[in-house]
Amino acid sequence: MHSLPLLLSLGGLGLALPQASSNYSIVSIPYEYTYLLPDGFTGNTNYTFVNSTHTSNSSINDLFSAAKAAPIISYDQEFLDLVGPNPEIKLIEERPEGHDFAYEMGVWVPERNSVWFTSSVSGDRIPPALYELDLTSNKISEIQTNQPITNPNGGYYFQGKVWIATYPDNQTYSGGIVSVDVNTLEVETVVNSYFGLRYNGVDDIVWATTPDNCSYMYYTDLNFAYLGYENLPPIQLPAAVYRWDPQNRVVLPVISRNQINPNGVRVSPDMKTLYVTDSTATFAEAGPYSPASGPGDTFWLGPYVWAWDLNERGLPVNRRLFAQVRQGIADGIHVDDAGNVWTGEYEGAVVRNPAGKTIGVFNSQYFQADKDAGTQLGFANFAIAGDTLVVLSTTRLWTVKLAKTVVARDSPIVN
Ligand SMILES: *[C@@H]1O[C@H](CO)[C@@H](O)[C@H](O)[C@H]1NC(C)=O
Ligand SMILES: *[C@@H]1O[C@H](CO)[C@@H](O)[C@H](O)[C@H]1NC(C)=O
Ligand SMILES: *[C@@H]1O[C@H](CO)[C@@H](O)[C@H](O)[C@H]1NC(C)=O
Ligand SMILES: *[C@@H]1O[C@H](CO)[C@@H](O)[C@H](O)[C@H]1NC(C)=O
Ligand SMILES: *[C@@H]1O[C@H](CO)[C@@H](O)[C@H](O)[C@H]1NC(C)=O
Ligand SMILES: *[C@@H]1O[C@H](CO)[C@@H](O)[C@H](O)[C@H]1NC(C)=O
Repeated sequence: MHSLPLLLSLGGLGLALPQASSNYSIVSIPYEYTYLLPDGFTGNTNYTFVNSTHTSNSSINDLFSAAKAAPIISYDQEFLDLVGPNPEIKLIEERPEGHDFAYEMGVWVPERNSVWFTSSVSGDRIPPALYELDLTSNKISEIQTNQPITNPNGGYYFQGKVWIATYPDNQTYSGGIVSVDVNTLEVETVVNSYFGLRYNGVDDIVWATTPDNCSYMYYTDLNFAYLGYENLPPIQLPAAVYRWDPQNRVVLPVISRNQINPNGVRVSPDMKTLYVTDSTATFAEAGPYSPASGPGDTFWLGPYVWAWDLNERGLPVNRRLFAQVRQGIADGIHVDDAGNVWTGEYEGAVVRNPAGKTIGVFNSQYFQADKDAGTQLGFANFAIAGDTLVVLSTTRLWTVKLAKTVVARDSPIVN
């Protein structure tokens, strides 16, 4: 691994910062502008809201311009309370172009005071690996498990283990789910097949417990492996959200492909709502295994965050839309103890309150160092560790200190 460890705080980088003021890192935008603008406005789905929206009103344009490269954009007082007046933003490490080491998962492991994360498995630019950020020393290292883990992607912390979704490769590895004991670092394969058939690419995992104390693991499977590999074996299973029932040892698809092209998955703190992100970008075209989105009735999915109730048997019911993503897709998802839903979108880490209102954004244009949206990997995931947001922005890893603990160490959804 070629790494260029840098320990810099904001400002040591010569980055273009928004106009200096005591609160340069936060730009507040009236929420109204998200649905009401002067006539004649234009917007471009390829770029962020604040970078590509133009109106006939120069004061609104100036505000968007100030916000486009700001680290934090707020739409609500709730969010200002969460980030505080002057959140400390630290670049922990930067690696060379193409070395997308900080990309997926983002799982807080309280007993190690660390965050586990993975590099990108899409593309052969660097070997996919599992890393740990030690939150005490801010050191990053590759995790030395007792057996190698192939193509780690998303994951979840539950009962002393990190449960990791892994992608197939075009050799002999067929992907699935492994668990890693956070103390011994012992790896165990949990699920890797369905009656002898390969998954497409298990992407993310969450655990939920029902009121009668049955725990279930939900995981998403979608056809994204082709982004990393040529000559994969033929697809054998429809995309789905599956449920593993360890009590009865049953694997069951519980959400079908005509409902979602699933990616990230999380539950609400009361375990009554299951959130799943849909990987159907507005610009996506229909392919044999990827549904299209668009305005017509031949297009059936889109860049959505869906919600289901989890019934008393832990089955998802009452599907409904929770949010619509503006740019790209929502990939990774995390829920905090207040029930706010945080998603990794091309716009950055977008925070919505439980009613679905966007209250703020950790802006990808800042954290991705203003790289052109068309040439970089879209912003995918992050971690929430107590009062620290860990931003995984492909070649850079940052921390943002929040004004409050948003996920407690003993939260039922450390995630
Ligand atoms: C967005 O990007 C795509 C792919 O590069 C391009 O085909 C399309 O024209 C762009 N759309 C706009 C509105 O710029
Ligand atoms: C531009 O927008 C601002 C903020 O809404 C408003 O106060 C101002 O009157 C507008 N200017 C014009 C010329 O409409
Ligand atoms: C700006 O930052 C200063 C210094 O931390 C703080 O006292 C002030 O309340 C902040 N203003 C706003 C609007 O957040
Ligand atoms: C729930 O089940 C777990 C084992 O699956 C057990 O350790 C725990 O004590 C149980 N909790 C309650 C409240 O029954
Ligand atoms: C597997 O995919 C990689 C990445 O696209 C490619 O370089 C390699 O040739 C493929 N291997 C086989 C056996 O097709
Ligand atoms: C911001 O938008 C402009 C087009 O308005 C585009 O050229 C530029 O690449 C965008 N910047 C980023 C970082 O997306």
